[in-house]
Amino acid sequence: MDYKNPKFIIDSSQLTPGKVRWRSPSNIALIKYWGKYGQQLPRNPSISLTLSQAATDTTLSYSAKQSDKEIDLDFYFAGESRPDFSLRVEKYLKILLPIFPFLGQLHLRIDTNNSFPHSAGIASSASAMSAIALILCSMEKRFFDSLSDSETFYQKASYLARLGSGSACRSVYPHVAVWGEAGEIPRASNLYAIPYADQVHDIFETYHDDILIISKAEKSVSSGAGHNLMEGNLYADNRYLQARQRMDNLTAAMRAGDLETFGKITEAEALTLHALMMTSNPPYLLMEPNSIAAIRKVQAYRAETGHPLYFTLDAGPNLHLLYPDNIATEVKTFIRSELTPLCQDGIYIADRCGAGPEELEADLNPN
Ligand code: DP6
Repeated sequence: MDYKNPKFIIDSSQLTPGKVRWRSPSNIALIKYWGKYGQQLPRNPSISLTLSQAATDTTLSYSAKQSDKEIDLDFYFAGESRPDFSLRVEKYLKILLPIFPFLGQLHLRIDTNNSFPHSAGIASSASAMSAIALILCSMEKRFFDSLSDSETFYQKASYLARLGSGSACRSVYPHVAVWGEAGEIPRASNLYAIPYADQVHDIFETYHDDILIISKAEKSVSSGAGHNLMEGNLYADNRYLQARQRMDNLTAAMRAGDLETFGKITEAEALTLHALMMTSNPPYLLMEPNSIAAIRKVQAYRAETGHPLYFTLDAGPNLHLLYPDNIATEVKTFIRSELTPLCQDGIYIADRCGAGPEELEADLNPN
């Protein structure tokens, strides 16, 4: 598959300035993407729940370019210029020039906001990059009257999002998405994610993901650096085999609505992710003492109540608590009494499995 298209140029003398706006959610991986090669290709398949509250709302405003810059971009995050984010987006748009040469003909202004508190320690390249990818597909549709079929639209958006951040390719689909070649899923691809909600039990659409903010501190090792360290990890090959096996077992459990098997595999994956960090060269540790204290409390709660409450972890210290809506009242009481004392400033973010990204009316945006 090759999306390069030298014909995607516009007549900028006729261009009416315009705006496109998308809100795109983050996602939480159950089987983790950890290790990559080539141009953002995953070493193993991954599966995630799409979130709802944790999302990025991005507006891109375009007009004819007046400068001779390759990419002419003004970038604002929460109303302020952020040279670090701006540079990453500029690099991303440069990579996309062979696919969308019109990006080199425009002056671009990007205004982006996260729905979750900026300082909550949840970096969200998944929501940020998927929002931009969706915007670019909407621009293609507007300028060239293409991508009218929704499957083609989202597949391309997922492909483009992957080039920005691997995990972002899974955010474009509602509820559940799979990315990466997986033996039992013939349509799965390393190039883009596919929607997977219709292959699993309905109970997963009711899932909550409450994120315990154990620490707001910025990660000491970025995901990008973590992926690179997998290349020298002694356990890497076995890990990739294990991820494939777990993918088959997890998708079977999700199909059957077997919440216990689902939870056991999900927790094992979270601990494996962190074990891989601890066995990298150099080794590193992203869990905090309170991450472990919270894990023990979740396990004790499960043993006492029999409720299917399980955790997963991102590449950081914060726990994601996964559970179906039918036990939400009891679980929330438990979180407030036992777990928020372990969180920095007592904060947790209540999120849920969500319906995926949406295009919004651009003019409602302040800029
Ligand atoms: C632990 O997608 O952030 O969250 O492709 O380098 O941008 P890049 O990495 P990124 O890695 C995510 C790693 C993870 C697991 C996952 O989401 O599958």
